[in-house]
Amino acid sequence: MTDKAEWEGRVGRTWAAEWQRTDRSFAALTERLLGAATGAAIAQALDIGCGAGEVSLALARANPDAQVVGVDVSNELLAAARVRGADLPNIAFELGDAARWTRAGFAPDLLVSRHGVMFFPDPVAAFTHLARLAAAGARLAFTCFRDPTENAWASGLTALLPSGLGAPPPPGEPGPFAFADKARVKRILAEAGWRDAAFEAIDFPYVAGGGDDPVEDALSYFLAIGPAARAAAQMENGERAQFIERVRAFLHDHLEDGRVALQAGAWLFTAHAPDG
Ligand SMILES: C[S@@+](CC[C@H](N)C(=O)[O-])C[C@H]1O[C@@H](n2cnc3c(N)ncnc32)[C@H](O)[C@@H]1O
Repeated sequence: MTDKAEWEGRVGRTWAAEWQRTDRSFAALTERLLGAATGAAIAQALDIGCGAGEVSLALARANPDAQVVGVDVSNELLAAARVRGADLPNIAFELGDAARWTRAGFAPDLLVSRHGVMFFPDPVAAFTHLARLAAAGARLAFTCFRDPTENAWASGLTALLPSGLGAPPPPGEPGPFAFADKARVKRILAEAGWRDAAFEAIDFPYVAGGGDDPVEDALSYFLAIGPAARAAAQMENGERAQFIERVRAFLHDHLEDGRVALQAGAWLFTAHAPDG
């Protein structure tokens, strides 16, 4: 499980230090999300769980007349986002729980999120709040992971763990795979008042390593972020060293054309807020 408290603390700090590599890993997916999010004029846009701001920044640059707000619970991630957005007058990054956050005069006609909506303890309540916050008929577009079995970066690494470590969390528990079940997500959106929910499966290369030594780059990335990092931190030295060797060999098997890329599968969900 990864919950709000972890994002406010340890996990948020790690992601803030690693935003270049997380943006790289999601690059192909980001393009698809932005493709779904743009197309119609935007006056105000909200990036839910904006992290270090990649999606907010892209929206603000592409829509200079729009006001873009990114909301997140991690101070460290927001600090990174603010540095990146310092030259953009139409962007703001605010600390807040997106399940409750409001801002006077702000009723977004676009709500977007790259993997920032799977951590609400009560997703129906959170999406109900977001529907109320949104302008009438506003567009919603977000991505989330499909099942771990369709994400080699997760299932491939957890398969290398010593037995007993890295068991998948119960389905639906807040965390990276909480929205893997598309029928559940459709139910959440419908109960929260969103209409026309639609989804698309997107397969993309999760680029974990590049540069001079792509395997070592990917290894250090996975020892910082994700299921392997969490499990490795709990291991004794000898066990950890053996695990790292197995991960290194696994990553080497996925080295191609100067990069380590692992298969990843996401949903891209779209919906509309009530007409008012
Ligand atoms: C997987 S990260 C994605 C970050 C960013 N959207 C990106 O693509 O780089 C999930 C983000 O959701 C944020 N988050 C988790 N729970 C939240 C909540 N209740 N309200 C706002 N942000 C939240 C985390 O702090 C984290 O930045």
